[in-house]
Amino acid sequence: MNDGFGGGSRHLLSAADLTRSEVENLIAIARDPGSFGALPAARFIAGLFFFEESTRTRVGFEVATARLGGTAVAVTGPKQTGTMSAAESWSDTIRSIDGYFDVVCVRHPSSDAVALAARLADVPVINCGNGTDEHPTQALIDLLAVYDHLGQPPDGLRIAMVGDLRNMRAAHSLLLMLALYRDVTVVGVCPQPLDAPMRFQEAFQASGNRYTTTRRMVDVTDVDLIYVAGFAPATAGGFWDEGARSPFRVTSAMVRAMAPGVGILCPLPRIDEIDADVDDLPQARYFRQSRLAVGMRMAVLRRSLSTQSRVLKR
Ligand code: CP
Repeated sequence: MNDGFGGGSRHLLSAADLTRSEVENLIAIARDPGSFGALPAARFIAGLFFFEESTRTRVGFEVATARLGGTAVAVTGPKQTGTMSAAESWSDTIRSIDGYFDVVCVRHPSSDAVALAARLADVPVINCGNGTDEHPTQALIDLLAVYDHLGQPPDGLRIAMVGDLRNMRAAHSLLLMLALYRDVTVVGVCPQPLDAPMRFQEAFQASGNRYTTTRRMVDVTDVDLIYVAGFAPATAGGFWDEGARSPFRVTSAMVRAMAPGVGILCPLPRIDEIDADVDDLPQARYFRQSRLAVGMRMAVLRRSLSTQSRVLKR
């Protein structure tokens, strides 16, 4: 069966793992997940290795698994379970129990954890957030929200990315995914210590797209989308308290001055990056963006469990 995903790896470790046609295939499935027939690996078991806090990603994968007819099993971190409190290594954990599952979803504070898991595991690994590196399934949801809001791919769009672009991993994955498109302009809006790492800026620009930077929200004009990346509670440069964050806050006065078609996206959670009175304005798209997530997580699981998946060769 041609599932539209080609014959490559079924891991999803980085946004750079995907081609544009794979992303568009995932978006088509996510928009209508019920229309793609039964999974080849029906009654699959997903291991959710979440060693960091998560609401949306963890619950999203649990629900997506249930909707596909599978079972999700939560594997909690060292502080939560007796057997792992003896500081068992991550590699031992993966080697011991990856084979219990058909697919493994990992959120981990270490940037190296998902690549190590993929090297050791016999089953596909999905990166659900690795340290300050990447969050590719969130970026897929963000892209889906762009298609949903504007009814078009991001080609030709002008996007402001606001917040801690150095540490917020979803923004990194989104830059890599936007690199698949043409004539995109991203304006990074952040304090200088929190600029997006050069490797993500360079990857985005390598395909001819433009990345510029400003330190002032007032410069955010003439954009199609505002992507509020948020602020990590603590960064390598120190704690970014309310006073440091407030110049980068999206206020209702700012949004009311924008065209109604400008979309405000945010991976959430929100602390105070977007004022609560923005929520009811037509530009606010972030709760709808979050609701689109289950379909995309179903699509990502489907890709990992598809016919060429290693799990089906065992
Ligand atoms: N957007 C996101 O990753 O949210 P959670 O941390 O709640 O999973």
